[in-house]
Amino acid sequence: MAQKRKLRMKKSTRVLTTIIVVILVVLLGGFLFLQDKKIKLQKIGYSKEASNKIVSLMMWSKVFDVGANKTLNAAFESSSYQDKNFDHYAKIKYQDQKDLIKNINILIKKGYKDSAISLILSRGKNEDVTAFAKREKVKYLEEFFSVKYSHLAYYDRYLAYQDLENNDAETTVLYVNLDFDKEDYKDVLEISKFNKYTLVNKHRMLTNKYIPSNLKKFPQDEVKGSEEFTANAEVVTAFHEMREAALKDGKDILVNSAYRSYEDQEEVVNTYLEAYGQSYVDNYVAKAGFSEHQTGMGLDIASADTSVFLESDEYGWLMENAYKYGFILRYPKSKEEITGYKCEPWHYRYVGKKIAEYIKKNNITYDEYYVMFLEEEL
Ligand code: DAL
Ligand code: ZN
Repeated sequence: MAQKRKLRMKKSTRVLTTIIVVILVVLLGGFLFLQDKKIKLQKIGYSKEASNKIVSLMMWSKVFDVGANKTLNAAFESSSYQDKNFDHYAKIKYQDQKDLIKNINILIKKGYKDSAISLILSRGKNEDVTAFAKREKVKYLEEFFSVKYSHLAYYDRYLAYQDLENNDAETTVLYVNLDFDKEDYKDVLEISKFNKYTLVNKHRMLTNKYIPSNLKKFPQDEVKGSEEFTANAEVVTAFHEMREAALKDGKDILVNSAYRSYEDQEEVVNTYLEAYGQSYVDNYVAKAGFSEHQTGMGLDIASADTSVFLESDEYGWLMENAYKYGFILRYPKSKEEITGYKCEPWHYRYVGKKIAEYIKKNNITYDEYYVMFLEEEL
């Protein structure tokens, strides 16, 4: 009897053990299967965090169909992930922004197309997109934001300027970025980041504290008169190179003015104000803080022999050749509306050879070049 019970117990223990083993095998198999999915997801670029979420939501086959996708990765990493937006995430171009997925969800809900959302995200920083996502769906979105250098935060300014001037969208963006919708010297930008490309005009100013860091003196034989002048060291070298080339062609160019401090510029303004009056100053002289001369990158060039520069051979030579040495005529004729100054045939700005060539060949101003190509990346 006891023997029989023992046998039965043995049998039930065996069955139980088998069940446990089977369960363990199934669990292990499942675990390995899911691990394999996670490894494969990570291999194609999904983060550990995203892969875990994808596997826990059993979404791997949809994700594998899409392949590597940074926006999708960010979506699965985010607590804002919404299953119903999966296909949108896969199509929207990724940007490195803190609230990317949260903002995408809002923009989808507002009815923007995936391509429009990609544009929105690409034209501003996280806080610009967050603010934009809060507003009602806007019109002319593609028109304005297809322009590469458009800014999301300027949307209202673009719209208002478009209504006012009726330009095409690209011109509207360019002119608003150039602050044409603002009066000269009003609501200006105080420049805080400086480099050799710094743009100064009637909307962008330097404080009286700004003094360029690497000023160098021009050799006195390259200067007109006895006053001493300095400029950015690169400008001094480039001017020397240009002068040598001019001399070879029988033209003698000299420095007539270069770096001017804030206080120097105040003096210049007062001198011209007394001599010629306010209207002359408005057209030809920058207010202190608004002069390119304070950057150390601008030069007034004179002819050694001819006092009226416009009539000199040097003027013609510079017009033709200055770009080869990295200089551009900063205030050309026919661009007065853009630069804010009447033509100054003597005022050259150093921008380096590549940019100078582009500006010359495309007949644009430095203001336009800066807005189109430099503003965002510097
Ligand atoms: N003449 C130029 C505009 C200046 O004063 O900086
Ligand atoms: Zn000048």
